[in-house]
Amino acid sequence: MRTALILASALAASLSLAACGENSAPAADATPKAPPPPALTEAEKVAVLAALPAPYNAGDLENGRRAFARCRSCHTITPGGPNMAGPNLYGVFGRQAGALDKYSYSHALRTAGFTWDAEKLDHWLENPKTFLPGNKMTFAGLRDATDRRDVIAFLKVETGYAPETAKAAAIATAPAS
Ligand code: HEC
Repeated sequence: MRTALILASALAASLSLAACGENSAPAADATPKAPPPPALTEAEKVAVLAALPAPYNAGDLENGRRAFARCRSCHTITPGGPNMAGPNLYGVFGRQAGALDKYSYSHALRTAGFTWDAEKLDHWLENPKTFLPGNKMTFAGLRDATDRRDVIAFLKVETGYAPETAKAAAIATAPAS
């Protein structure tokens, strides 16, 4: 019944859109793609944050978002987001360094042979050049340890780190209705 209602209103919406003009644009990009995993709700984000090991569980997501503004010109963080000057960072935690097929890494990063975790990222962001000589991330680094903590917490929450755990935790902590 509910499904029928949703379908009916979706149909009505598309009909009214179609009625908007003779030259209405063709349907948006119809290329078949795997649907991206659903974005986390605010409650799930809070649950992921709380489940992080210290000191990241004390991270300030808003400050992390602000610090990430310095990365955005080169990195996307959405599932399947494009590589720009730097590789897409969705799913970076637990991923082998330099592992995306479609991104052309420096030799140094491609052959670095480690897996990204909070600690590695902290060193990388503090000073990319000294952490891994020969890499091609032209970024001076985030010198402020709190900014690094917060941007790492922000990235854990935004790049799909253990969303399943977070969902379970969010459900467990949700007030009974
Ligand atoms: C000027 C562009 C630029 C900026 C700004 C920048 N990056 Fe990068 N980033 C790169 C490039 C280029 C690479 C690939 C380096 C290589 O192949 O040696 C990279 C690689 C990375 C990687 C490794 C990914 C992988 O798949 O192994 C991480 C993690 C990363 N950047 C995080 C960040 C974060 C977080 C910030 C902001 C605090 C940031 N970057 C800012 C250009 C940038």
